[in-house]
Amino acid sequence: MNSGPVTHILSSLQFDTDTLYTLFELADRIRKISKSKDGLDFLRTILSHKRAVLYFAQPSTRTYLSFNNACQILGIQTSDMRSAATSSEVKGESIEDTLETMHSYTDMIIIRHSEDDIAEKAAWMFNRSDKPIPIINAGSGPVEHPTQALLDAYTIHRAFKGKIKNKTIAIIGDLRRGRTVRSLTYLLKNFPGIRFNYVSPAELALPADVKNYLQKHEIAFEESDNLDKAVRKSDIIYSTRIQDEYDQHHESLAIDYTKFYLKKSHLALLKKDSIIMHPLPRRNEIPAEIDADSRAWYWKQEINGLWMRTAIISHIFKEDGYILNYR
Ligand code: NCD
Repeated sequence: MNSGPVTHILSSLQFDTDTLYTLFELADRIRKISKSKDGLDFLRTILSHKRAVLYFAQPSTRTYLSFNNACQILGIQTSDMRSAATSSEVKGESIEDTLETMHSYTDMIIIRHSEDDIAEKAAWMFNRSDKPIPIINAGSGPVEHPTQALLDAYTIHRAFKGKIKNKTIAIIGDLRRGRTVRSLTYLLKNFPGIRFNYVSPAELALPADVKNYLQKHEIAFEESDNLDKAVRKSDIIYSTRIQDEYDQHHESLAIDYTKFYLKKSHLALLKKDSIIMHPLPRRNEIPAEIDADSRAWYWKQEINGLWMRTAIISHIFKEDGYILNYR
């Protein structure tokens, strides 16, 4: 049995370069081990004594399915609450009491919520309890989505065969409310020479706190609304959807987001070894006709999410060494 303090996944700020490379290696190894029945049988025993609850109070396809399947690969039994509407919160129960109940029944809570700080709140509550359990932030309002950033970094790592240094990434779209944007920015600080081209409508520009972070860490960045230029100059194109669920008064309707859509014609501007990413779901930011281009990496990125989330859970439960030693 492994002991020591409980590891939570709350923010991309918590990761250092060594941990990232451990997670990349672990994800690669788990992917390989899972190719054989013996390997899958081995993985399924590792955490078969654990239970987890997935509390997704906001819509999710990929994050939910990949976490649920990652748990299954490791033998963890899961139960889920897929909407706050099915929780006793609608009867007036507080979120604290809801979390307390999840804590009573399980060994890990994976939370997606429209409020910013529910995962942190849970971590604080249970750190003080007689059964500290890991909490994973699977998306906290418009603020953070650290496990998405981990799978994004893993995708970049794989696409460039381990050479993330000195890359230029264009992050395009709703930079103000896209939680993947903040989390990915924080995480990529770990790779020397990274440069950012942020491309957005003025109304959805990068928030001041992220700009302060970049300045504090002396990371080079540009902001513009010029998609063509960013496509020409960047190694990684990271497109995002407009986050209109956070509109106060349908203000997104007044924004011309079409200027930030990739078109097939952009493929001619893109360098031959650049890649196109998107956390998904997409609307019209990337037309399906781009999918067949070898530089379109978003479906691979989605698959990487399963292996990275399996790695994250193994890491949280301190099983890295056990998996890395599997022959
Ligand atoms: C993202 C999210 O939930 O923030 N989706 C995801 O987890 N893959 C991006 C989005 O919803 O636009």
